[in-house]
Amino acid sequence: MRIRVIAANWKMYKTPDQTRAFFREFLPLVAQHTRDEIVVCPSFLDLPAALESANGSNVAIGAQNVHWKEEGAFTGETSVKQLLAYDIHYVIIGHSERRQYFGETDDTVNLRLKTALEGGLTPICCVGEVLEEREAGATEDVLRRQCVRAFHAISVKKAAKLIIAYEPVWAIGTGKTATPEIAAEAHAVIRQEAGRIFGEEFAAHLRILYGGSVKPENASALMAQEEIDGALVGGASLDPKSFAAIVKY
Ligand code: PGA
Repeated sequence: MRIRVIAANWKMYKTPDQTRAFFREFLPLVAQHTRDEIVVCPSFLDLPAALESANGSNVAIGAQNVHWKEEGAFTGETSVKQLLAYDIHYVIIGHSERRQYFGETDDTVNLRLKTALEGGLTPICCVGEVLEEREAGATEDVLRRQCVRAFHAISVKKAAKLIIAYEPVWAIGTGKTATPEIAAEAHAVIRQEAGRIFGEEFAAHLRILYGGSVKPENASALMAQEEIDGALVGGASLDPKSFAAIVKY
């Protein structure tokens, strides 16, 4: 049995006041919810407001990125140690927007992932093909390559907390969701690759989330797939009612 994770990726939205307002409305809506893990990943400057608001609740707070060095001259970056100082344990790594706009590569994803796992964080590592890759029939190859490179030189013991998010880039923020069947097929490829690298037992416990235009209207059909172990939600996580409806799929 894999406990599902429903995670919000707020990207570069909301101020601290808006963050507090979100939690005031959201927390009562999910207060009784114990079935799934709920995680909200605001932008860095909203983390203190989110942590304060969610304190003592069933909602965990995560960051949207982390650097691989312990500290140093890396302007604009944040370390594992800094996240842990705030008691933040979840972190998104390798989101397609980082790959697309900020020069993130399979190799830097690997470095970030390795450091996050070594530091005891729970990384949500994103993989997914772009439209041209899907249309060229290269989806499976792309997913296998992203997994092989992301997991490079990470031991199965270190990888225990790893969570993967399958996010087809053509479905992010576009309103185009992968059908539950397309998503499940991609998840199966990722699980198989994880099994090849880390072993079958690891793969059987690995949680693979789906991300890309998840909405209250499509969440239950996606979650009905046994392969899908939760969701990483962008746009629809910004509104408390809509994110609560997804949590309760
Ligand atoms: P979306 O974003 O739900 O707005 O498509 C998902 C994501 O980028 O994680």
